[in-house]
Parts: sequence; C-alpha cells; structure tokens
Amino acid sequence: SGVERLGDMIAEARVIVPFTGAGISTECGIPDFRSPGGIWTRNRPIPFDEFVASQSARDESWRRRFAMEEVFAAAKPGRGHRALASLYRAGKVPAVITQNIDNLHQASGFAGEHVIELHGNTTYARCIGCGQAYPLDWVKRRFDDDGLAPNCTACDEPVKTATISFGQMMPDDEMQRATALSQACDLFIAIGSSLVVWPAAGFPMMAKNAGARLVIINREPTEQDDIADLVIHHDIGEALGPFVAN
Ligand code: OAD
Ligand code: ZN
Repeated sequence: SGVERLGDMIAEARVIVPFTGAGISTECGIPDFRSPGGIWTRNRPIPFDEFVASQSARDESWRRRFAMEEVFAAAKPGRGHRALASLYRAGKVPAVITQNIDNLHQASGFAGEHVIELHGNTTYARCIGCGQAYPLDWVKRRFDDDGLAPNCTACDEPVKTATISFGQMMPDDEMQRATALSQACDLFIAIGSSLVVWPAAGFPMMAKNAGARLVIINREPTEQDDIADLVIHHDIGEALGPFVAN
C-alpha cells in the first residue's frame, strides 16, 4: 500500500523535510480553507492593503480572529504533528516548513527555530509599522473597550495577527531557509495542502528539481500530484499514525 511504500521511503531517507498545510490540523478541530465548510467557503479573505487602509476591515479581521479563539486555544497536536515530531526527535527531520499559523508543530515538540512559518503565526500580534509584538489579550482588551481594532502604542500603526495576508510580503528569512531545506533534503513530504497558494506551493517542485523524492499526502487530489513519486489520497492521521513513536 501507499503507507507501506512511505515507510520504506522514510527508512531509506537521510534528510526528510515535511511541508504542511491546513489539512494536518483538521483532526485538531481547526478548519482548513478550501474544503466544504473551510474558512474561504464562509468568509472572503481580507487582503493586506485593505487591512492597512480601512478601520472597518481591521475590526472585521479581529472579530473573525476572536471568534476562532476557543478553537485555537483548545487545539492539541494531532497524529500527523506527532509523527513528524517523532521523526524530528529521531534526527531524520531537521525542520518543518509550514503554511499553518496554529503553533501546533511547536506544541508537538519542534523547537521554535525548527518551524519555518511561511505564513506567520496567529497566536500573537504585531504592529505592521514597527514590528512590536503584542499578546492577543492586549488586543482583546483594547478591542472590547471601544469595539475598534487598536493601533501600536509606540508608533500608532495598526496591530495585526502575526500572520501573512494575501498581498503582504513573504518573510525573507523563512523563504530563504525553506529554499535551503528544500534543496538539501532527499525526501520531501507535502502534507494536507491543496498546493494552490504561491510562492509556498513552489517548494515541492523545488525539492523535486533538486533531486529529492516527493511524496504528497492529501485527501483530495492536488495541483501537483503529477510530479510526485508517491501520492497518498488518504486521511493524514491514518497515514501518519503508524510513524508516531511511543
Ligand atoms: P487548503 O484548505 O487549501 O487545503 C487543505 C487540503 O487538506 C485540502 O485539499 C483537503 O482535502 C486536505 N485535508 C483536510 N483534512 C484532511 C485530512 N484529515 N486528511 C487528509 N487531507 C486533508 O489549505 P492550505 O493548502 O494549507 O494562506 O492553504 C494554503 C494557504 O491558503 C493557507 O496557508 C492560507 C490560505 O489562504 C494565506 O491566507 C496567505
Ligand atoms: Zn508600532
């Protein structure tokens, strides 16, 4: 089966780089973006320029974030996260590249510097002017006071979740580290991503072009199944559960 073949490929590999999307966190209660019931089937994304230009867009953005707070706060790492953490502890995985913002790779045991967050992190906030970090409770208190998304106390620019929105610059350091990892691995495993959002979706092909074997694990077909050495159209928890070390 695909999972047996994956086991062989993992055993044969020296350097494995996992690349994750929202599908790895659905079993943790966090919805993905494009499946039925996904975030973008319910809400239109708020592009970065709109967030910058409009107080009401910022208010709406924070309303959405606080509406999700119980879900994010309650989420625990799933079988996929735990399998990757097991391979990390075994020294086979140097770091994980993720599009996810939910902090669950860190919660599963990856050191912070070994989680390459291409789209940032939603568990804290940052000023978009000076970069000052803020805890979410600070934003929540200010928001509850007057119903308005707050600005930075230092520079008066808007405070936003520390995530990357459409139209926002990709983080330089993370892009460089993800590039180096993709080119240095001999097995690249794309897990739970529709692989439609660029430039993130370019890393599987980059790894493949640099000589790595490419595995894609996703319930639905992806845009890039045709370039993969192995495609597993299966539930991620089921497919990766066998690789969780006890
Ligand atoms: P998507 O929602 O586009 O894709 C998630 C994929 O995971 C879907 O193809 C699902 O079929 C699959 N999936 C969900 N649960 C699964 C499970 N338990 N087992 C197997 N497969 C499962 O999410 P991403 O590809 O992560 O960026 O989205 C990429 C980016 O689009 C996000 O980082 C976010 C979003 O807009 C920004 O907002 C910048
Ligand atoms: Zn500031």
